[in-house]
Amino acid sequence: MNAPWKAGTTGTRDPFNAFICDEASLDVLRPVVVEMGWQTEKCNKGGLRNAVQSLSITASPNILMVDLSESGDPLNDINALAEVCEPGTVVIAIGQVNDVRLYRDLVASGIHDYLLKPLSPGQVRDALVQAQAVFSAPKHLDPSQAKAHVTTAVIGTRGGVGASTIATSLAWLFSTENKVPTALLDLDIHFGTGALSLDLEPGRGLTDAIENPSRIDGLFIERAMIRANDNLAILSAEAPINSPLMTDGTAFMQLEEEFRQAFEMTVIDLPRNMLINFPQLLSDVNLIVLVTEMTLAAARDTIRLLAWLKTNAPHAQVMVIANKVQPGLAEISKADFEASIERKIGFSIPYDIKAAANAAKLGQTFAEGNRATKAAAILRDVARAVFGSGDALAADDRVSAKKSLLGKIDLKSMLSKKGKAPATAGAK
Ligand SMILES: Nc1ncnc2c1ncn2[C@@H]1O[C@H](COP(=O)(O)OP(=O)(O)OP(=O)(O)O)[C@@H](O)[C@H]1O
Ligand SMILES: [Mg+2]
Repeated sequence: MNAPWKAGTTGTRDPFNAFICDEASLDVLRPVVVEMGWQTEKCNKGGLRNAVQSLSITASPNILMVDLSESGDPLNDINALAEVCEPGTVVIAIGQVNDVRLYRDLVASGIHDYLLKPLSPGQVRDALVQAQAVFSAPKHLDPSQAKAHVTTAVIGTRGGVGASTIATSLAWLFSTENKVPTALLDLDIHFGTGALSLDLEPGRGLTDAIENPSRIDGLFIERAMIRANDNLAILSAEAPINSPLMTDGTAFMQLEEEFRQAFEMTVIDLPRNMLINFPQLLSDVNLIVLVTEMTLAAARDTIRLLAWLKTNAPHAQVMVIANKVQPGLAEISKADFEASIERKIGFSIPYDIKAAANAAKLGQTFAEGNRATKAAAILRDVARAVFGSGDALAADDRVSAKKSLLGKIDLKSMLSKKGKAPATAGAK
């Protein structure tokens, strides 16, 4: 698929590069390049060979113009170009062979257009304007290889349960194990740890998006997102804590939409307060990973959140994950917890302080920094279940209506035994 955000190994992409064999064509090209707002230094002397050499060590531009005149076997050489040129680049070939078969073959091999020499300013201008439009247009998957985009929201039932740990690990796993273009959107605007756990600076991307939602488009995403690896881009903020968040949520909806075009997986680290303020955020979410700990307060809030989700996001699958699980040390046993929430816990991730410390020390996600641990193995299972959302359904089995003995234990009675009323305990 096209990954318009995907930059090369040596920095960000140029809007335009040309590799042209003769001065006459360069003389026609340069004024049009100036009109387009690009730099004339990007019009290089040289042909296809030079383009291949140059692109093998630098990032591919958005639009590439390449001269085939000195190429003995243009089709073959174009394939060499395809090997070094990153997805998303719009390529315009120029040449002196007026052959419709060559034109057809070039277009079939992924070339956007073929211009015949001698070039004219009008012809070059039209081709560049069209290429620009193609580059900026939303990228659609080829239906034959389409895999539905999956947007997953990770929500903690209480503070500190490990929602961000799981969100970053899932995003990292999708990008490395499944090797699919993945976006991580950290909506903990003031206190997010998405970038921190990947040892990255969050940059101003998300703050800019919130301040100017109208600017959000494919190009904005490409520039604003921070790249964690070839397949993982992250948008997060460390917004100043002396100013409140001024947004009606439009920016977040817009970002979700752009991510659907540009990536295959989106993972949203979604703090509970954002959920309450912007319930519309869930309208296009496919899967909700509800992360909980095995405490009384978390059981109460799991029940409340499940009820909320049933009303506000009935279309989304919900997977409940218990994190920081310490066998024999839980405030509420797994069986009692499941009975109370009337739903099975899909996965239980053990408490592993060494792994948490190791991830922090390495500046890697929990899953990356601790591959050999049980916790990471379970996280990989979670990622597989989310990736194949059919599996996720299995993890979402409700506890049978024919309640077992365990089903008779309910949270209300447990709370009343402790002399607490569910509605009075404050959420963290
Ligand atoms: N399975 C685990 N074992 C041990 N420590 C863990 C585990 N999962 C997460 N942690 C640690 O718990 C702490 C809180 O995790 P995290 O920030 O992911 O929680 P959160 O739910 O996102 O918190 P917040 O409510 O602040 O957003 C981190 O220091 C993290 O390393
Ligand atoms: Mg968090």
